[in-house]
Amino acid sequence: MAENLAGKVAVVTGGSRGIGRAIAQRLATEGADCLIVARTPENLATAADELAATGRRIETCAVDLRSLEGCEAVQGRLDDTFGRIDILVNCAGATQAGPFLDLSDDVWQDGFDLKFWGAVRLTRLLWPSLGEAKGTVINIVGGFARTPAADFMIGGAVNAAFANFSKALAGLGLRDDVNVNTVHPGQTVTDRLDQVFETRAAQAGITPDEFQQKIIERQGVRRLGKPDDVAALVAFLCSPEARHIQGTAIGVDGGATSGLF
Ligand SMILES: NC(=O)c1ccc[n+]([C@@H]2O[C@H](COP(=O)([O-])OP(=O)(O)OC[C@H]3O[C@@H](n4cnc5c(N)ncnc54)[C@H](OP(=O)(O)O)[C@@H]3O)[C@@H](O)[C@H]2O)c1
Repeated sequence: MAENLAGKVAVVTGGSRGIGRAIAQRLATEGADCLIVARTPENLATAADELAATGRRIETCAVDLRSLEGCEAVQGRLDDTFGRIDILVNCAGATQAGPFLDLSDDVWQDGFDLKFWGAVRLTRLLWPSLGEAKGTVINIVGGFARTPAADFMIGGAVNAAFANFSKALAGLGLRDDVNVNTVHPGQTVTDRLDQVFETRAAQAGITPDEFQQKIIERQGVRRLGKPDDVAALVAFLCSPEARHIQGTAIGVDGGATSGLF
C-alpha cells in the first residue's frame, strides 16, 4: 500500500475498537504514527500491539472524553509523545437508542458529552497545532444526522449538531489552512452494532442473524458496512491528493440513504 501519510502524526479517538480501530490501522499502514484514545487501557494496549506490526510508532491515551479534563489529557499526552499533530480523527461515540419516552435527560446529556462535546473540545485544543501543520480533521458522524429515526433520536440530534459544527469548522479551516471533512457511516458491523442487534433481536423474538438480514432487506443494500470501508475513505481524505476536498460530507452506507446527500 502506498505510504501517502509517511511522516504524519494522527490522533484517532475511539481508536481501540470498531471503526476507529480500523481507521488507525489504515493510517498506520499508509505511514502515519498514531496516538489512539479510548477509556479502557487493556483494549488500547491490544490495539497498539497489533498496530505496531505496521512498523509505525503507536502511542495510547486512556481517558474519558466526556470531560474537558479528559480532552486536556489527550493534548498533554500528545505533547509528551509526538509533540505535534497532522491528523485528528474524531470517532469516539456511543449514543443510546430506544423509545423517546424512556430516554432520560442524563442519557441525552451523555450522548452529547462524548460525541459532540468531546469532538468540539479536542478540536479546539488541538486546532492551533493542526494549523501549524496544515493538517486535517475528519469527523466520523453518521447517517442519522440527515435521516432521523424515532428510535434513534439522541444519535440523530448529536450527529446533526456535529455535522453542522464540522461544516462551520471547515470554513475556519480555509482561513487557518486545515482541511475538515465529515464521513457518515451507515450501519457498520462493530461490537457496538452487534450489541444493538442482539438487544433488538431479543425484543423481536428472532436471532441476531435474522435481525441483521431484516435490516439489510429494509435498507435495500447489498450488505452492512465494514469498518475498513470507512477507513479507506478516511485515509484518502487525509492524503495530499484530497487537499482540495474541503467541508464536504460523504456517506459510506452502501446506498442506504434514499435522499440527497
Ligand atoms: N457502527 C455503526 O453502525 C455506526 C454508524 C454510524 C456512525 N457510527 C459512529 O462511528 C463511531 C464509532 O462507532 P463504532 O461502532 O466503531 O463504536 P465502538 O465499536 O463501540 O467503538 C467505540 C470506541 O470509542 C471509545 N469510547 C467510548 N466511550 C468513550 C469515552 N467516554 N471516552 C473515550 N473513548 C470512548 C471506545 O473505547 P472504550 O469503550 O474503551 O472507551 C471505542 O474505542 C461512533 O461515533 C458512532 O456513532 C457508527
